[in-house]
Amino acid sequence: MRRHRVAYLPGDGIGAEVCEVARRCVDASGLRFGFEVTWDEQLVGGAAIDATGEPLPAATLDSCREADAVLLGAVGGPRWDDPSAAVRPEDALLGLRSALELFANLRPVTAHPALETASPLRPEVRSGADLLIVRELTGGLYFGRPQGRSTDDGVEAAVDTLRYTRPEIERIVELAFGLAEGRRGRLTSVDKANVLASSRLWREVVDEIAPRHPSVSVEHALVDSTAYLILTQPGHYDVIVTENLFGDILSDEAAAIAGSLGLLASASLGTRATEQGRFGLYEPVHGSAPAITGLGISNPLATVASAALMLRWSLGEVEAADALDGAVSAAIEDGPRTGDLGGSDGTEAVAGFLMAQLMLPQEVPA
Ligand code: NAD
Ligand code: IPM
Ligand code: MN
Repeated sequence: MRRHRVAYLPGDGIGAEVCEVARRCVDASGLRFGFEVTWDEQLVGGAAIDATGEPLPAATLDSCREADAVLLGAVGGPRWDDPSAAVRPEDALLGLRSALELFANLRPVTAHPALETASPLRPEVRSGADLLIVRELTGGLYFGRPQGRSTDDGVEAAVDTLRYTRPEIERIVELAFGLAEGRRGRLTSVDKANVLASSRLWREVVDEIAPRHPSVSVEHALVDSTAYLILTQPGHYDVIVTENLFGDILSDEAAAIAGSLGLLASASLGTRATEQGRFGLYEPVHGSAPAITGLGISNPLATVASAALMLRWSLGEVEAADALDGAVSAAIEDGPRTGDLGGSDGTEAVAGFLMAQLMLPQEVPA
C-alpha cells in the first residue's frame, strides 16, 4: 500500500465544505488504486487567528514542511476585514507561499462544451479555449519592500513596491517555457513594459531564454489589452506567464471563459522534490465566498480538480488524478450543478455524484 501525507488546511468560509468533498474523492480513489493518504488537519487564516492569534501558526507550517503536499480551502472573510487589524487571514497564504518557496502558480482554464450556458461568452468565442496561466507567486507587489503606511510632513501615505530580481524572473519564465513545450508551443508573456521598469527586465529575460526553446513561439503582450483579448479571443492563448498581481487578476477574469470561478483549480509549486514528484500546495482559485458559506450550495469542483493536480504533481498517483478529472468532467457533462453553473443542486449532490463516479468498477483494458 502506497502512503502519502497531506497537510489539510480547510481555512475559512466555504473552505471546509469544498475541501471535505475533495478529501472524500481522494480517499475513494485511494481505495480503488491502492494508496492511502494521511490527512494532517491544521488551522490557517481567520480560523487560526481566532484560535491562536496568528494566521499561520508554527504547527501548521511544520505540518506543511513534513508533508508531500498541502490541500488548502480558502482564507479570509468579513469577520477579519478590519483594515486596522494587526494580522489578516490572507497573511497566512503569503507566509506559506514564501516559507515553502512556492514561486510558480499554475492555473489551468478550459472551456468545457457542456458549460456553454454557464459562461457569459458566446459559444463561438469560447469554443476550444484551453489555456494555462503561470503566475509568479513569491515576488512582485505582494512581497516588495518597502510596504506600509507613513505620515510624511503631516500627509498620510502608503507604499507598495513592485520588485523583481533576475533569478526570480528566470526561474518562472524557464518553467513556463517548459510547460509550453509540453502543450501547444505558444507562450504569451504579459507585462506592462511601456510603463514599469520591472516589466522591462522581465521582457529582457524572456528574450534571453527564448532561444533555448526553439519549438516555442513567444510573444510579449501588455496586461491591459490582454485583459480585453483574453475574453474576446481566448482561443489565441496557450501558456501565459506573468507577474504576481497581473496573474491574480487575469486568472479570476479567465474564470468567465470556463463558466465559473467555482471551477478553477491551482497548483503552487517550488523546487523541493518529494518521493513521488514535486512538493506543492493545491487550492481553488476562488476565495472563501462569505455570502454563500454554510448554505450547502458551494461548487466543490475547483477543489476536487485541485486535488487531482495534487495527485498528479506531488503524489505520483496519475491514475487517480485521471479518475478525479474524469469524475469532474462527468459532473460537468451530466451531473448535478450548483448555482454558479446555472443549476439548483447543492454541494452534497455534486459530492454524491463524484463519489459514485469514482466507485465505478475500473474498465479492463482490452
Ligand atoms: P470569492 O472568490 O470568495 O468570491 C467571488 C464570487 O464567486 C462570489 O460571488 C462567490 O459567491 C463566488 N464563488 C466563489 N467560489 C465559489 C464556489 N466554489 N461556488 C460557488 N460560488 C463561488 O472572492 P471575494 O468575495 O473577493 O473574497 C472573499 C474572501 O476570500 C476575501 O476575504 C478574500 O481575501 C478571500 N480570498 C481568499 C483566497 C484564498 O484563500 N486562496 C482567494 C481569493 C480570495
Ligand atoms: C489568490 C487570492 C490571494 C492572492 C489572496 C487571498 C492573498 O486572491 O490566491 O488568488 O491575492 O494571491
Ligand atoms: Mn486571487
